[in-house]
Amino acid sequence: MSALLLQLTDLHILPAGELAYGQIDTAGLLQQTLRAVAALERRPDAAVLTGDLVDNGSAAAYAQLRTLLAPLDMPLYLLPGNHDDRQQLHQAFPEAAPLNADGFVQYTADIGGLRLIVLDTLVPEASHGALCPRRLSWLSDALEDCRDRPVVIAMHHPPFTTGIDHMDKIGLLEGVSELDALLRRHPQVQRLLCGHMHRPIQCLFGGTLACTLPSTAHQLALDLPDDAPAQWTMEPPGFGLHLLDDQGLMVSHLGTSTPFAGPFPFGTDSTQLLAQATV
Ligand SMILES: [Fe+2]
Repeated sequence: MSALLLQLTDLHILPAGELAYGQIDTAGLLQQTLRAVAALERRPDAAVLTGDLVDNGSAAAYAQLRTLLAPLDMPLYLLPGNHDDRQQLHQAFPEAAPLNADGFVQYTADIGGLRLIVLDTLVPEASHGALCPRRLSWLSDALEDCRDRPVVIAMHHPPFTTGIDHMDKIGLLEGVSELDALLRRHPQVQRLLCGHMHRPIQCLFGGTLACTLPSTAHQLALDLPDDAPAQWTMEPPGFGLHLLDDQGLMVSHLGTSTPFAGPFPFGTDSTQLLAQATV
């Protein structure tokens, strides 16, 4: 059974009326992304939001997030990033960010023929992430429970180094080798969907494809020198669309949130259409 999963990440929403770093309208940019999603010809079956949902973990920010996400009329699956507060997130979205018996935002969901496994890499009061033995044990059980179907795992901190040095220092710093070994025993895992990097990056990890996406708001500069400073940009925001086909294989698309001209049919003179679209 096919499935289409929307991924949004690093929304960094603030309380109504506030701007990130005093200048980035993260709410307006999220609304722009949601308009792009609403214009898609095929409606996603569900959405997973891979952390940094708000910028400061406050109840007021989660209230604003809830208001902004209201038009997204599909099942939502949320998880925390380092800018989130686990308890505040759960209180604002008890149905979309449930806690497991250990108190982590770790749960599973079925989307068509796809099993989604959500992991919580949050370390309170820290920027880096961790998968401690309790979280990994839970994941091991979750994977054993679904050997017979395609799986995607969603988590905030990517488990691979990216070459963006200042971010790698606050990446997933605990549980990486254990996660690698665990995934190698589970070839049913089609994707590891991550956030944190505010850029589209892919890496083979644990025998599966691990990837990050652009933020719906601001991006991180593509700075690969070892000593590059932490800088942000207003490169175009975007979203992910992960399509599982009827044979159980997944393809992943990157959509852009920024308005653009088109689509135009091939085989016709689009000059006039383009001129009208760009007025
Ligand atoms: Fe972020």
